[in-house]
This record gives sequence, C-alpha cells and structure tokens, in this order.
Amino acid sequence: MPDLSPDGARIDGARIDGARIEAARVLAGEPAAAALLAQAQAKMQALPIVPKLVVVRIGDDPASVYYTRMKARRAKKLGMASGLHELPSDVSETAVLELVASLNHDPLVSGILVQLPFPKTSAVSQAKVLAAIDPAKDVDGLHVANTGRLWADEPGLLPCTPAGVMALLAHYGIAVAGQHVVIVGRSHLVGKPLAGLMLRANATVTIAHSRTPDLAATVRQADVVVAAVGRPWLITAAMVRPGAVVVDVGINRVPDPDGGEDGKLVGDVHPEVAMVASALSPVPGGVGVMTVAQLLYNTVLAAEQQHQL
Ligand SMILES: NC(=O)c1ccc[n+]([C@@H]2O[C@H](COP(=O)([O-])OP(=O)(O)OC[C@H]3O[C@@H](n4cnc5c(N)ncnc54)[C@H](OP(=O)(O)O)[C@@H]3O)[C@@H](O)[C@H]2O)c1
Repeated sequence: MPDLSPDGARIDGARIDGARIEAARVLAGEPAAAALLAQAQAKMQALPIVPKLVVVRIGDDPASVYYTRMKARRAKKLGMASGLHELPSDVSETAVLELVASLNHDPLVSGILVQLPFPKTSAVSQAKVLAAIDPAKDVDGLHVANTGRLWADEPGLLPCTPAGVMALLAHYGIAVAGQHVVIVGRSHLVGKPLAGLMLRANATVTIAHSRTPDLAATVRQADVVVAAVGRPWLITAAMVRPGAVVVDVGINRVPDPDGGEDGKLVGDVHPEVAMVASALSPVPGGVGVMTVAQLLYNTVLAAEQQHQL
C-alpha cells in the first residue's frame, strides 16, 4: 500500500481522499531478463551441442521485421546458433509447411518460432502452421499439445509472454499465491495461458475481456492486475486499487506528442497508475524484454529435452 497522508490527490479524475501518493516501484524488465538469460547460459554450458533457434517470418510488416531480426540477433549474442527465414507475403501454405517439416527433422535445430500474425493478405493458415511445428521444438509454446500440457500441469514449453510475466514477478519477489489476479484479455497468446500459470502459482484468477460489463469494478478487486489488451491507456488510475501490483503487457503505437515520425510506444496502462499502484511494469522496457529472454530460455530447455538431459 502507498503511504497515506491527509493532503489528498487527484488522479485521472478520481479523488483519493486523504492519500499522499508515492510512485510505484518500477518492475524493469532488463535486470529480470538478465537473470533469466544467465540461467539459460549456465544450462547451455552443460549441453553437448550449441542450441539453434530458427525464426520464420512471412511478409515485411515493419514490426515483424524488427522483432524477428532482434530475436535472431539476441540468440547469437547469447552464444546460440540462429537462422532466419524471411518469406514473401505471397508464399504458399505448402511451401511454409514444407519448411516447417524440414526444420522439424533437422537435428541441428532446437527451436522453431513462426512470427505472428501473418500478413492479412496471406493465404497461409496460422493454425495449420502452428499445428505443424514439432511440440518439442515449439519454443513459442503455442502448439495445442503444449497448451494442453500447461492446463494438465504436465511439463511442456510455455508461451513466452505469460512465462515472462511470471518470471518478472518472481524476480521482484512478488508472490501471487492467495492473491486475486485480474487478467484483462483472453487471447491464446497471453491472457488464457497466463491464467493457467497464475492458477499453478496458487492465485485466484479472474479473466476480463471486451464483454465484461463493468471492467473498472472488476479490475478494482485485484491485488495484481495484468493488462493484455492492445488498447492504449485503457487501465486508468481510478480503476486500480491503491497498492495493487500492475503488469502492463500492451504494446501500442500512438502519435508522438513530440512529433516523431514513427510514433511512440505506450502500454495498456495509463502512466498515472504509477501514483496508485505499489509496483508497475514500464512500456517499453518491461514485459517485452522478458518475452525475448523467455524465448531463448525455452530454446535451451528444448535442446535439453532433445538431448535428454
Ligand atoms: N510485451 C510483449 O512481449 C507482448 C507480447 C504479446 C502481445 N503483446 C501486446 O499485448 C496486447 C494484447 O495482445 P494479444 O495478442 O493478447 O491481443 P488480442 O489477441 O487482440 O486480445 C486482446 C484481448 O483484449 C480484450 N479486449 C479488447 N478490448 C477490450 C476492452 N475495451 N475491455 C476489455 N477487454 C478488451 C479482447 O477481448 P475479446 O476476447 O472479448 O475480444 C481480447 O481478449 C497487445 O498490445 C500486444 O501488442 C505484448
């Protein structure tokens, strides 16, 4: 809880009577990601091979180009082998499935990541491609076999962003056991698997979404809020219980008030939430870096399993 004093404060239209507000602790991703990567590196030393991450991208959407090249570069920086297949946006489904099959059978490839989403114009089915990846090499953790293992509490590769959120909270000593966690967003990529991981960690979980009638009242019940929506600044200070922990997964590009041509990246959580929350992850520099670190960690885990260590 923030320290309370009698002078009051106005936050995003909501008066918090009698509260002197202290800014939230910043849950910076870099130190937590460095710790995860150090663990990955230690595991790599014990492997009989150098793990290899192969990234596949369809089309040339600027954000996807940036993310895929960055993931391949980070793998190399960690001392892994890496490959990047940059396919044209009109590539056929057969060609993509053949590529995935060849990567599945290549003993030098430890992990395969197919960058999502595919371009809107692409005729390639995301579901078919994800289903074609060998679950043992599915370092994005999105194959239904890995989804099933997550919910059945069996070992498997975990989706990178939800696992990254759990690692971020653990790094800062934030235990979720017995806490009420409200996750806003129910995607296959973030919200739903995160709910599974939070349950595993003994949290009481609520998932809110676009059909939740009173989002503010739901979020206000939370000890821990995770916003994974894709709506800039949807979560305002008035929606957050003073002292709650807030994790912002959202990445939204908005016009830059300083006139920058590429716009500015903001999260789903309004910055003023820092004045009511006890801890808040920044955007950029929070969950995003954890996601990439978790991908590399998963690649090492996949290599370990393939070599039965
Ligand atoms: N930091 C990272 O590494 C990372 C990784 C992945 C994604 N992201 C970011 O996280 C955000 C979410 O990604 P995603 O892939 O999960 O998005 P998504 O598939 O579009 O899902 C968005 C979810 O938010 C819900 N939603 C939309 N508007 C809402 C509203 N007004 N109130 C309550 N719920 C609402 C949707 O509800 P319905 O289901 O009812 O439509 C849906 O469940 C995006 O900004 C994305 O860029 C970041």
